[in-house]
This record gives sequence, C-alpha cells and structure tokens, in this order.
Amino acid sequence: MKTPIQTALEQYLQKDLSRTHMPGHKGAAFDLLAPVLPYDLTEVQGTDSLYQAEEAIAECERQYSQLYGSKGTLLSAGGSTLCIQTMLALAFLPGNELIAGRNLHVSAVNAMALLDLRPHWVYPRQNPDGIGSTLAPEDIERALVQHPNAKGVYLTSPDYFGVLSDVSAISSLCRSRNIPLLVDNAHGAHLPFLAPPCHPITQGASLCCDSLHKTMPVITGGALLHIGEEKYLPHAKQTMSMFGSTSPSYLIMLSIDRALDYIHTQCRQDLAQTARRTASLKALAQQKGFFVPGPPHLCDPTRLTLGFASVGYTGEQFGQHLRSHGIEPEYLSSVGCVLLMSSFLREQDWARVSQMLQNIHPKPSLSQGPPAPLPVAQSGITLREAIFSHSQLLPVKQCENKICACVKSPCPPGIPIVMPGERIEKNLIKTLKQYRISFLNVVK
Ligand SMILES: Cc1ncc(COP(=O)(O)O)c(C=O)c1O
Repeated sequence: MKTPIQTALEQYLQKDLSRTHMPGHKGAAFDLLAPVLPYDLTEVQGTDSLYQAEEAIAECERQYSQLYGSKGTLLSAGGSTLCIQTMLALAFLPGNELIAGRNLHVSAVNAMALLDLRPHWVYPRQNPDGIGSTLAPEDIERALVQHPNAKGVYLTSPDYFGVLSDVSAISSLCRSRNIPLLVDNAHGAHLPFLAPPCHPITQGASLCCDSLHKTMPVITGGALLHIGEEKYLPHAKQTMSMFGSTSPSYLIMLSIDRALDYIHTQCRQDLAQTARRTASLKALAQQKGFFVPGPPHLCDPTRLTLGFASVGYTGEQFGQHLRSHGIEPEYLSSVGCVLLMSSFLREQDWARVSQMLQNIHPKPSLSQGPPAPLPVAQSGITLREAIFSHSQLLPVKQCENKICACVKSPCPPGIPIVMPGERIEKNLIKTLKQYRISFLNVVK
C-alpha cells in the first residue's frame, strides 16, 4: 500500500455516505473544483486524524520516515512555517538562548518571538552580489564558544539561492556538545532523491523541515517535519497541534500521499534528468558571463540561480528579458534571479530558458563583488518584547537609537540588517539607506 491516505479517502467515497459533516461544500458545490472537491474531507471515521494519527495518516508518515531516514516524520498541511514553530517548541524552553544563522526565514523569527527564544546571530559568508551564502562551521563554533549557554543551533540550508552549508560538520559540533541542531531545509525536500543523496537528517540534524510543495509535486502548504532523535517523538504531535489548524486540508495531505507513489516510481529518474539539463543551462549561463553559485556539490542541481549584474543587466532589464521570452521567475532582484527547474516543466519551457540565455548580449559588468559585511546590530530588548510592543512607522533618518520592531531584509542577500529588539545605531542607518530602505517600524 503506497498511498494510504488516497486509499482511505477512496474507501470513504465508495460508501456513498451522506456528508452531514464539514466542509460545507459537501464535495459537490463548485464545477471548477469538481474532480478534487469530493476528496476534500475532514477528520471522520475512516479518514484518520492528523494530530492523533493511527491509520492512513500514520502509515503515510511511517513511509516518509523510512524514505528520509528519520526516527519519525510528521505531515504538515501548514507548510514549513508550522514545522518550524513545532521544532523550535520541541527543542527549546521559553527564555533559552540559541545560535542561529542570520539568513533565516521570517517564519523562524516570528516563531522565536512567540516562544520567547534569545538567538545569538551568526552572519553567513556571502557570494558575489549576495547571490547565496553559507554558514561556516568555524563561525558556528566560535559563536558556541562565545555563548556557552546556547541550548542548540538553528540553520537554513539550502538557502533561497540553492546554496548548501556543511550540515554534517555543524551537526558534529552540536553532537560533541550534546545540543540539538535544527535545520530549515524548506527548499531541499527533493535532495535525498538525487545522486549523491543529501539531507540534513542523514547528515545528523536533530530536527528538520522540508516544504514538499516548493520542489516536489505537492499542493501549496504540504510539508514534512523530520525527527532525528527519539526523545522528540512523544511530544511532537501535541506540540504541532498547538500551532496548526484543527482542520488540516485533506487535499494537501492527499497530494503528499500521492507524492509517495511518485517517489517510489519516477522521482529519481526525473530528478536526475532535471539535474543534467539544468547543468547544461548553468554551463551556458557561465559561458555568457552570468554568476552561477558553486561548487556544484554544494548547490541544488535543479535550481538555476543567475547573477546577471556581471553581464551588465539591471533587475528591470533582466525582468523584461525573461518576460519577453515568456518566463516568470521564482525570484528576481536588482542583481539576480532564481528559476526552479523541474521535469514537470514542458519541453517548450526548457527551450525558452535556453533561448533566453542564448539571446543575452553581455554588456560591461555592473557586479560589485561580495557585499560589505553587514554591521552587527546590538540587542536592546528581546525579540518577543519588540515584536509584541506598540510600534510606529518612522522614516529611517528619524530612527537613530530607537529599537527596531520588525525584520528588515534586503533582497538579496536576504540577511536582515536589523531584527526586532535591536538598537538602530548610526552605522545601521547608513546601511539601511544603502539598501534603499526608507521606513522602519520601531518600538514606541
Ligand atoms: C527558507 C524558508 N524557510 C521556511 C519557509 C516557510 O515555508 P512555507 O511557505 O512552506 O511555510 C520559506 C518560505 O518561502 C523559506 O523560504
């Protein structure tokens, strides 16, 4: 039985029951959604229950756990956001200090504020123009020495640009201190099915999240929380239920279930082919003079990240170039873009990307090399105090010595210049202006 949730839902449908339960559409309300609406069920007899899973959902989770080599895996219908809240709550107590890579997603900052955690930031090392960054194990080690009360490490790998950090080395550092390593692998759900396979759980992470919906054929919101240490298993479901909806979407869970069958059959072959084809596009891009993050073994082979400042294009010009070839990118900034390649793209999509690269006529470079290191902001009050404070929006020039109440991250590099709770000193104001940030929410 490879798709237990699908089987359970089909068995329910075969019984032809009167749906005198939620949801209100009764499986039939809209023609537009006719093929899928019957499967949008709820937790009734036969369909199992996400936070007390014993049947179909538990079986689906067991299969995912085997595939990813975890001690246990939980389905999430609330994206990696829900998994991040859950793993931070599982690993830490309110008031705990931790070491965290500063290139983290806002969902992690919000969860840390909710849980009243006290992060000590490690700034990642950046590629030219900020197109990708890595957290160096030696920088993490230094932070662990400086903050001996840190109860664990939180990092993001791969980053949005597909650049991987050395999770194995960082997990060894954590194991030698007997503290957990939490990894946001939201962009890397597909990595175990490529050659060589790679995943934070097999690299020693204690807890890790994967947004299946980002890189696998799964509906938006479908994600996995992997548990690498048995001690977290007993409380995991209850902890997730504190943050998630009591009405998890069965359509999302069904698509996670369907992906099981895909992983068992076609996935590895498809990913190998996607990686080969993406490698050819990367080679073509490099010939043209684009900056492409490397080395290949430390980058997602299915993600086409292009730094175009080196071929003399601005963000606006490159955006026009992409769209004139019928391409909508995942991400476009003033210096780089990210295209997510997949075997589910059509032949014409691959041809368009290739043509788009061939039609580039390089101009004098606008590249500025690796960005200057961001000034390290000093903490004034805790994340939680700042995020839940009364705040006001002020022009940056009026913010000197005020305490920031929001996350301000330029794109790229996606590394916040100021975090909630940090004091906005003169040098930060200069950097904010350099990145064209003109307003900030500050604590009143
Ligand atoms: C690095 C990273 N972590 C976490 C998330 C949140 O994931 P989700 O949208 O699945 O909740 C995102 C979303 O873009 C992300 O980029």
